[in-house]
Amino acid sequence: MSLQGKHIILGICGGIAAYKSVSLLRLLVKAGAEVQVVITPAGKEFITPVTLSALSQKPVVSEFFTANTGEWHSHVDLGLWADCMVIAPATASSIGKMAHGIADNMLITTYLSAKSPVFIAPAMDLDMMAHPSTQANLRLLESYGNHIIEPETGYLASGLTGKGRMEEPEKILEVLEKFFSVGKSMEEKKVLITAGPTYEKIDPVRFIGNYSSGKMGYALADECASRGADVTLVSGPVSVSVSNPSIKVVKIESAKEMLAECEKVFPTSDVAIMCAAVADYAPAHTADSKIKREHQEIPVIELVKNPDIAATLGAMKKSSQTLVGFALETDHEFENAVEKLNRKNLDMIVLNSMRDSGAGFGTDTNKVTIFTRDSRCEYPLKSKKDVAKDIVDAIISKKCEQR
Ligand code: CTP
Repeated sequence: MSLQGKHIILGICGGIAAYKSVSLLRLLVKAGAEVQVVITPAGKEFITPVTLSALSQKPVVSEFFTANTGEWHSHVDLGLWADCMVIAPATASSIGKMAHGIADNMLITTYLSAKSPVFIAPAMDLDMMAHPSTQANLRLLESYGNHIIEPETGYLASGLTGKGRMEEPEKILEVLEKFFSVGKSMEEKKVLITAGPTYEKIDPVRFIGNYSSGKMGYALADECASRGADVTLVSGPVSVSVSNPSIKVVKIESAKEMLAECEKVFPTSDVAIMCAAVADYAPAHTADSKIKREHQEIPVIELVKNPDIAATLGAMKKSSQTLVGFALETDHEFENAVEKLNRKNLDMIVLNSMRDSGAGFGTDTNKVTIFTRDSRCEYPLKSKKDVAKDIVDAIISKKCEQR
């Protein structure tokens, strides 16, 4: 059985979709999991603890202590016991409390104590789901490393049709099974990732740079680390940060500094992912003091070519190593991506087209085509976190898989 022996906390909030939690509980138990249900006070208005305890064969936890015996329920112990926590349905109110640490019931305190991965399956009316405050809370939860199982579009309890239906229990089970099957699939792998822009200094206060936010590279670092890899992230100046504290982040500014760090780490790496938007050119000379506007001819900045980090590593690559590049293109996208794959001796290249809305610099989403030496897959628009999963899946299986 796919979830055999896994300890799962099933968190249930007060929404109509709570009736689907019964099927989910049944499926989890059938798949071999040991399930502890934690329900909010409002959840009990929708589904009775008796049904849930009968199916899970454990008393349902809802309050901090049992009223007649005074027995204390430890959310800390529960948080440590779990291999994962699934909150389904997650209501707008609980999502808000989780995002902001408002620990006023057993479910939220358990969530805050959980050391395991947390999966959140929202369910609410379409306007509540679309509200900027709900969306911001979900993105905040995602940035803390939680997994959001997006709701479906369909018929809602309000009689309206839109996005807000909790994902079907069978699909939630599939997400968990997949998570545990890939689980630690990168254990003992050493992964080098470059991310962000490079800054090439003109003088002490000016530089040549680009709009790269680093979000894709940081999402890849978190994804590899969550699968057990030992990750070194060589990053240009960005404002994002990693969620996984095991990642070694090396901050650099220029392409030359990035190359020097990569040359140190690459020889002992199993996988290298070149996600940085490296500046192709740098000023030939950096002025020691600020170039002044007055009393000067208009300056001409002479440029020199920067080293190609991906191509340098491609030339050093051993057959046991996997080298992955990115290509950001505006024209002849496929031809240019394949040409870069060959020229830089890569094993895989991830193409972003600037023609696709929602893809490229600064966005939280991306739309990519992955090319390996013998496969090509075009993926739909997804969050950068989900794109990172697809890329890492393709690295592990050495081919892409259309989904
Ligand atoms: N890259 C690199 N070092 C460089 C330039 C690019 O390591 N000096 C890597 C990028 O991180 C990416 C891949 O090479 O993985 C392709 O980058 P891209 O900017 O698309 O290609 P370029 O080789 O710079 O070609 P062009 O800008 O002409 O498209």
